[in-house]
Amino acid sequence: MATAFHMSLLLLLALVALRPSTTSAAASPNPNSLNLHQVFQLFGFPLGLIPGPVDSFTLTPIGILPPTFNFTIHYKEPCYVQFVYPNYYNPVFTGKITFGKLFDMQGHKDQFPSGEWIDMYDVTVVDQNLYFQFATASATVDRSFFAEVKNCTYGPLLPADYSNELISQLPISAE
Ligand SMILES: *[C@@H]1O[C@H](CO)[C@@H](O)[C@H](O)[C@H]1NC(C)=O
Ligand SMILES: *[C@@H]1O[C@H](CO)[C@@H](O)[C@H](O)[C@H]1NC(C)=O
Repeated sequence: MATAFHMSLLLLLALVALRPSTTSAAASPNPNSLNLHQVFQLFGFPLGLIPGPVDSFTLTPIGILPPTFNFTIHYKEPCYVQFVYPNYYNPVFTGKITFGKLFDMQGHKDQFPSGEWIDMYDVTVVDQNLYFQFATASATVDRSFFAEVKNCTYGPLLPADYSNELISQLPISAE
């Protein structure tokens, strides 16, 4: 759909993408640049979906209809934060973003009650909820859970390919 909304989002984000941006909790507010949390809000996600402080991020356009971007988020160190389960973000966390959907994520895991760290692949906005697709499970959480930006606790690096062998067993989900 080439809606006016989609086109203005695309133009805005193209500007963001052209300018490598750096954000941190200590940085003074710059009215001319959006931080990562604000950018994710433009895509329909709650402000605190991704913890801070983000060291830097980039968005690279990969599709126009709908506007779709590769994202790369850098943390200073491996980042841990508690939402429903403990969450882990690799210092380099990548994926793709389009309106209402994050997908092909690499570098984000949740620790399940079994103790295993399981890769999260997709996040989809469904009305007031967020639908999370993991390598081995899925979960639906009210978006109000992610209203405020939580701060990372730094900890050990986890193996990058912990549950990658499960990818081929996943059902393909259609839009
Ligand atoms: C986007 O990311 C994928 C990996 O997920 C990579 O293969 C591709 O080259 C990237 N595209 C651009 C334009 O950066
Ligand atoms: C995160 O850290 C910043 C800077 O130390 C602080 O201002 C903010 O209140 C913290 N946020 C939370 C949710 O604890």
